[in-house]
Amino acid sequence: MKRIVVTGATGQIAYSLLFRIAHGDLFPHSEPIALHLSDLLGTEAMMEGVAMELEDCAFPLLKEIHFGSDLEKQFDQVDIALLVGAKPRGPGMERADLLMDNGRIFVDQGRALGSAANKDVKVVVVGNPCNTNCLIAMSHASTLPRQNFHAMMRLDQNRAQALLARKGSAEVEEVKRLTIWGNHSATQVPDFVNATIKEKKALDVIKDPSWFQGDFIETIQKRGAAIIAARGKSSAASAANAAVESVRSLYTPTPAGEWFSSAVCSDGNPYGIEENLVFGFPCRSKGDGNYEIVPDLEWDFFLKEKIAVTQKELISERVCVEKELL
Ligand code: NAD
Ligand code: LMR
Repeated sequence: MKRIVVTGATGQIAYSLLFRIAHGDLFPHSEPIALHLSDLLGTEAMMEGVAMELEDCAFPLLKEIHFGSDLEKQFDQVDIALLVGAKPRGPGMERADLLMDNGRIFVDQGRALGSAANKDVKVVVVGNPCNTNCLIAMSHASTLPRQNFHAMMRLDQNRAQALLARKGSAEVEEVKRLTIWGNHSATQVPDFVNATIKEKKALDVIKDPSWFQGDFIETIQKRGAAIIAARGKSSAASAANAAVESVRSLYTPTPAGEWFSSAVCSDGNPYGIEENLVFGFPCRSKGDGNYEIVPDLEWDFFLKEKIAVTQKELISERVCVEKELL
């Protein structure tokens, strides 16, 4: 049985995510599940309501539901931790504006993971700004391998994949090899140089380099803000879907020559990115829950400059938190 904790269990992302997990979507094989719902003190009645709805789905794989606000209890022996609980941004804000408020959450959660979770726990941070929140959690869970921490870039990957499929008149599954380098922010770098559509270079299918360097990158970088402007709330169902796929990719052997995007610890990375950052890289897995960074992708001058900018932003986020939160 896999024990899975979801924080922010009464929030809008969790309201999609929990039901996908309980249905069994995290793993490519059937796996009995114990769900641990974690949220702030005072949300117990609402968590109980969510638990009642989960029960009422009669999901065959869902064997146990626990809920509460005590982190040590909710993180006890978990195999997977989806750290969603955090404030979302509102219109006109950047995700980094949440850093000082949300970053604190991940100090306590990192500590609780280190003391209570299974030593092989895989952690995916969704709460924004997710890369630096993940760095904070990882730093406070010093008993756990740093390789077990991820921040979610999958929503950006999926957005880029869908956009390239629409523009390139292809099916979404025909778009491959998409990396989102760097930070889940407006500086992220969706890599059109290495992406393929129907097994050809995307640049040879959509023969419009200025579209890639302009509209394509900007649309993906600003998609989160566009959703907030349109919906009045930040993305939720698509974020939940991306969280499911982030975990599922770790438990599914990555097909030869392909990869997925995840922000992972930069220590020892093959691209010369500064260490001690949580940075979006191309990753592949043998399906055992672990990953390696895919080496040797080429950067043209344009990508190289953009990647330097996103790296600089992550370094400046780290500087903001290093005194109080790291
Ligand atoms: P929401 O406001 O609907 O829910 C947030 C939940 O977090 C609530 O249940 C709240 O009680 C809980 N929470 C707030 N402060 C907390 C604290 N100090 N400790 C523990 N839990 C706390 O928000 P949402 O729409 O579910 O979004 C959650 C987070 O996910 C936001 O930070 C949002 O920006 C982020 N997000 C990230 C991505 C991504 O791609 N990485 C995508 C979408 C949203
Ligand atoms: C997103 O990309 O949709 C989320 O990170 C929410 C946001 O603040 O944009």
